[in-house]
Amino acid sequence: MTSLIPVPRRVVAGSGEVRLTGRSRLHAGTGTEGVGRWLRAVLWQATGLPLHEGREPDDTDADGIGLRLDPGLGCEEYRLVSDGTGVLVEGGGAAGVFHGAQTLRQLLGPDAYRKAPLDRNRVWTVPHVTIEDGPRFRWRGLMLDVARHFMPKDGVLRYLDLMAAHKLNVFHLHLTDDQGWRIEIERYPRLTEVGSWRARTKFGHRASPLWDEKPHGGYYTRDDIREIVAYAAERHITVVPEIDVPGHSQAAIAAYPELGNTDVDTASGDNSASGDGGSTRTALSVWDSWGISPHVLAPTDHTLRFYEGVFEEVLELFPSEFIHVGGDECPKDEWRRSPAAQARIRELGLADEDQLQSWFIRHFDTWLSARGRRLVGWDEILEGGLADGATVSSWRGYAGGIAAARAGHDVVMCPEQQVYLDHRQDDGADEPVPIGFVRTLEDVYRFEPVPSELTPEEADHVLGTQANLWTEVMEDHTRVDYQAFPRLAAFAEVAWSGLPAPEERDFAGFERRMRAHYERLDALGVGYRPPGGPRPWQRRPGVLGRPIDGPPPKR
Ligand code: ACM
Repeated sequence: MTSLIPVPRRVVAGSGEVRLTGRSRLHAGTGTEGVGRWLRAVLWQATGLPLHEGREPDDTDADGIGLRLDPGLGCEEYRLVSDGTGVLVEGGGAAGVFHGAQTLRQLLGPDAYRKAPLDRNRVWTVPHVTIEDGPRFRWRGLMLDVARHFMPKDGVLRYLDLMAAHKLNVFHLHLTDDQGWRIEIERYPRLTEVGSWRARTKFGHRASPLWDEKPHGGYYTRDDIREIVAYAAERHITVVPEIDVPGHSQAAIAAYPELGNTDVDTASGDNSASGDGGSTRTALSVWDSWGISPHVLAPTDHTLRFYEGVFEEVLELFPSEFIHVGGDECPKDEWRRSPAAQARIRELGLADEDQLQSWFIRHFDTWLSARGRRLVGWDEILEGGLADGATVSSWRGYAGGIAAARAGHDVVMCPEQQVYLDHRQDDGADEPVPIGFVRTLEDVYRFEPVPSELTPEEADHVLGTQANLWTEVMEDHTRVDYQAFPRLAAFAEVAWSGLPAPEERDFAGFERRMRAHYERLDALGVGYRPPGGPRPWQRRPGVLGRPIDGPPPKR
């Protein structure tokens, strides 16, 4: 029983095993050296086996490991053969070899995930097997919101390891929001000096009456970002940065007030105490509540030039083809009330505020395209007309993605009803985070990213799928672990494996394989939700214990 997750395309079991010992060698052929370094390092940590360099380019000893490219395979495809001549992992590209090496780690058993060997005298075995495998989708994403709660760099690196172990390959990093700005921008130091800290934090969902009366903050320096991007690249993960415009921008406006709609933002009131974002201009600060701030960017040339400056530095740090510009949940009320915004609408010959939002997004679509990048935004960017080159993250359901695919645009399917992993995973009274829809492990396993309404040509525009982790109610990595796992394992199987139609999926078989996978997660130190419900220390009393009556509370 190999209990692999995500399940490979084809597995043919043999009857013997390869025994790895202190004499075993690892040879990484041309183009696979990086994977060889990574594999030697993780196996050394877990097993204490030195895995010396193999002698010959194609050499695999009976007890050795060989890695090499096979141009006959697709870039992310791999073949793993374990037999009397050792273990050979071949991939179409280094990414394919890397995915095969991750499968090899699963075959070695849960202790292969440890940070230190439990028993240095242990004999490590790989069952004889032939595996042929490759991904269903090219975009297998996880979004992490580090704006609502900051995750220090080491936690991010750990999540990249967890993603790689599940063959996920796009890390969407939500870096800015009303509640915090998390990336150093050299030319605008106040974005982090002011924008990366808030005085206190709403405790629980947004209807909660409580605050945690402690400052919260943090940001990644340029060197931190370089390290994150390089660490991801070694694991064949692309980091897609998100800088949210023109809404979800209160932290930036708190740092540079001229980015806001200064002619209307004169309402008095303490934004901290009211919890609704209303404030005087001088009082506007990084938001300490959840929901959607009414304070949005002013549609001025100054704002455009400012954000071009931000994106210039972002492009220097992130090689990703795709750059996410947010575009979601931009309340139009300030623009309706602002004489300057209204004058701008007339000057640009636009019909309304929706078109003003489109104008904003189109500007950055053109700007990014001219620099060889592609814009991706949340599905609100459809309102008022979609920019020519834009790709859509379909989050409010499938509809935005369907409309975009029919109009010939690429789509990443991440409907909140299915794959928002901040939503609770059970209706039990001791479920710690009672926000949003109940979405169980089985619900996620039966999630289908390509809606049946699409023709095959339209479906080709679905680049893939993404699970999203918003962190309003996840203040540290243990809370993130609880929400993400085990559902991220089910999501990874949906994104990687060519599963049958949702109702035909073998959930019982998945649960059986999960027994072995929980042991891997234990070895990795992941604080997942156990099948029977939260452990005592994972429960949450008080306001977080039960949702308020009525529809599920949002964040
Ligand atoms: C979103 O959840 N506002 C993209």
